[in-house]
Amino acid sequence: MLKTLDRADIKGKKILLRVGYDITLKKEGDTWVVPDDERIRATLPTIQYLLEQGCAIIVMGGWIGRPKPGVVEEKYKMDPVARRLAELLGKPVKKFDETVGKAVEEAIFTIKHGEIIMLENTRFNKGETEADPSLAREMAKLGDFVVFDAFAQAMRVHASTTGILENHRSTSCVGLLMERELTVLGQILKSPMEPFVVVLGGAKVSDKIAMVQNFLDKVGIVLVGGALANPFFQAKGMDVGGSLTESVFVDEAKGVTYNAVEIAKTLLSNTARKSVPHELIPFTWPNGERVALSKIQLPLDVIIAKKKPDGGFFDKTVVIKKLNGQQKLCNNDEAILDIGHTTSFVYNEVIKRGRTIFWNGPMGYFEDFNFRDGTRSIANAVADSNGFSVIGGGDTEGVIAKFNLAGRFGHVSTGGGASLSLLAGEELAVLKYLN
Ligand code: 3PG
Repeated sequence: MLKTLDRADIKGKKILLRVGYDITLKKEGDTWVVPDDERIRATLPTIQYLLEQGCAIIVMGGWIGRPKPGVVEEKYKMDPVARRLAELLGKPVKKFDETVGKAVEEAIFTIKHGEIIMLENTRFNKGETEADPSLAREMAKLGDFVVFDAFAQAMRVHASTTGILENHRSTSCVGLLMERELTVLGQILKSPMEPFVVVLGGAKVSDKIAMVQNFLDKVGIVLVGGALANPFFQAKGMDVGGSLTESVFVDEAKGVTYNAVEIAKTLLSNTARKSVPHELIPFTWPNGERVALSKIQLPLDVIIAKKKPDGGFFDKTVVIKKLNGQQKLCNNDEAILDIGHTTSFVYNEVIKRGRTIFWNGPMGYFEDFNFRDGTRSIANAVADSNGFSVIGGGDTEGVIAKFNLAGRFGHVSTGGGASLSLLAGEELAVLKYLN
């Protein structure tokens, strides 16, 4: 049984609140800001509850991005997040430049009921990603009791996740966000209505692709887009030029290395003979062509542009390329940046027919006006669908705000990798200590 907040003895205590504020920050002039505060808002009910119980709160936001251990980078600092949290709560949040150490401990020693302090990015510390036990002990002693509400980071074995909880076996529980995510996602993913359509994209390629095999039997079709399509193209021997790829991902704590192209090859060969449920096959096709849908369906056309030497892309070089049999998709100074119109059409038709739709990750570089059509069209199709929709992940949440689709989905999860882990039937690493 899950250890929940309503049954926890927390009145008046110093609470180490572990939340997941992995938000891609944006630079405006000289200042870094939070462009999308959904991950902060989602934790407000827990914070309000703790304040009502007379607690002092030490907010540990976990990590932003993937900084090199021991290296502090401005774009990954928690200051803008602390500012936004203070605005949303209408009360001061004192931010520290460290996660652990003397200054933090001294502040916690004198902290009063109702006060809030916030710690720095946990991945700035050496030992965080390897779940170093001595770092975990340092972190654990910052609170009398741990409330774990970082659903988005609950699948990682880090000092600030499983490490802290190992030191607080009888003095920890889940927060309100974590409880809600587990209840809703648990129900949907246990017995999804069929046919079940999964749409998978985004830039975090390797650890996502490693999970696909584990949910293939549950789903009717996986529609692939974004950078996630690239290892599949490479697995088919295609050249993706300068497109975003992440061929190798190392999970230090688990001691596992994932090779995305090798995994893609296995997935394609395992699914070569698997058929797609007939209910999902469209009646009409673009230009009257018939497309033989695959269980893992790759884009049929892509949008490509030439890179600028200093980042960004040349507007006038944007072209659509059909994939039919071509081996070279783009040159080294070009990149695939969106799915094409035919792909959007076909994916829309399939999504329409799903009774459960799970969408994780954009279809391309949607932050740029030239490459947003694919993601916008998928977002609208999922929003319009009559099936129950679940969408998840930091980028996917950003899509909702950009295209004004708030309130149009069955469940919006704050966790991309975490919701995918649940879909794959894995137990989130932290639950070993929270049940
Ligand atoms: C997320 O935003 O999905 C989580 O913070 C996980 O981040 P990670 O993939 O860098 O561990």
